[in-house]
Amino acid sequence: MTDADKALVEEILRLKRERKAVILAHNYQRGELQDLADFTGDSLGLTQAAARTDAEVIVFCGVHFMAETAAIMNPGKLVLIPDKEAGCSLAAMISGESLRRWKAEHPGAVVVSYINCTADVKAESDYICTSTNALKVVEAIPPDREILFAPDQFLGTWVQQRTGRKMHLWPGYCHVHNRIDTEVIKGLKAEHPAAKFVMHPECGCLTSCMPLADKVLSTEGILNHCRQSPDPEFIVGTEVGILHRLRKESPQKVFFPAAEEAACEFMKLNTLEKLLWSLQDLEYKVIVPEETARKARRAIERMLEISDPGGYAKKTVPVD
Ligand code: 13P
Ligand code: SF4
Repeated sequence: MTDADKALVEEILRLKRERKAVILAHNYQRGELQDLADFTGDSLGLTQAAARTDAEVIVFCGVHFMAETAAIMNPGKLVLIPDKEAGCSLAAMISGESLRRWKAEHPGAVVVSYINCTADVKAESDYICTSTNALKVVEAIPPDREILFAPDQFLGTWVQQRTGRKMHLWPGYCHVHNRIDTEVIKGLKAEHPAAKFVMHPECGCLTSCMPLADKVLSTEGILNHCRQSPDPEFIVGTEVGILHRLRKESPQKVFFPAAEEAACEFMKLNTLEKLLWSLQDLEYKVIVPEETARKARRAIERMLEISDPGGYAKKTVPVD
């Protein structure tokens, strides 16, 4: 880290204390942001951290739907994102309106939405899930209920295969995880025969890559597995920002990215400078209309309760 960056970090930490703020960062953020955050984790861990914090200001180093989730869980608190253009191609693939139309075609179906969706979509959903708890959430739904799963078709396909549960899948995908390719994985495995292949269920090559994978896990699942496993080498099939924590937490191990080009342009929009400006100017505010937040919160709370029964203080809300 340069002296200029060190000075920036010092000023960010000083302002953070002054603002009584907490800094949350996703595992795909730039390394320097992960290092200074109060909590770095996956979508589930970040939602839990946002739901439990007593800080007055939450600065979310991640993408917009993540900051929205923090705002939904914290009515009345100030939630900021350092770059308001930090969107998500997957979340943009379904709108509240298109989900309403899909629901109308399947009256009575239960809607499970991956957390990578807008607040409007969350408000139209019965359950939210992340890649950590998608299996648990779907398994908690009575077997006679029809399920609409949105927006990630690959996570949905993986859940169908693992649970044996038939679902209607929205044809969404992440453009970053779509850059991970089966033939390249085969080549990497041939080049590094001792390396285990760990992949995220968002990967576009899911169907053909799954037989090659030693584990299919969320980002935090990948981190935990690689830290605890005795294996010394891994091929990592997800966004490359995760390599920072992997290498930091297991410096003696070797990590090969499945695709160098699997870098999320949206995640990388947040920088040290923008984080400093965010704390200075209290921008950019992430605001979710009250009624949308109320409905979306029910779907998120159901997920938190299934994911960690009794661990989430608020009561579970039954499905309508
Ligand atoms: P997780 O960190 O929950 O595995 O999510 C991955 C992702 O693509 C977030 O945008
Ligand atoms: Fe969205 Fe994909 Fe970026 Fe995650 S990696 S924020 S799913 S575009």
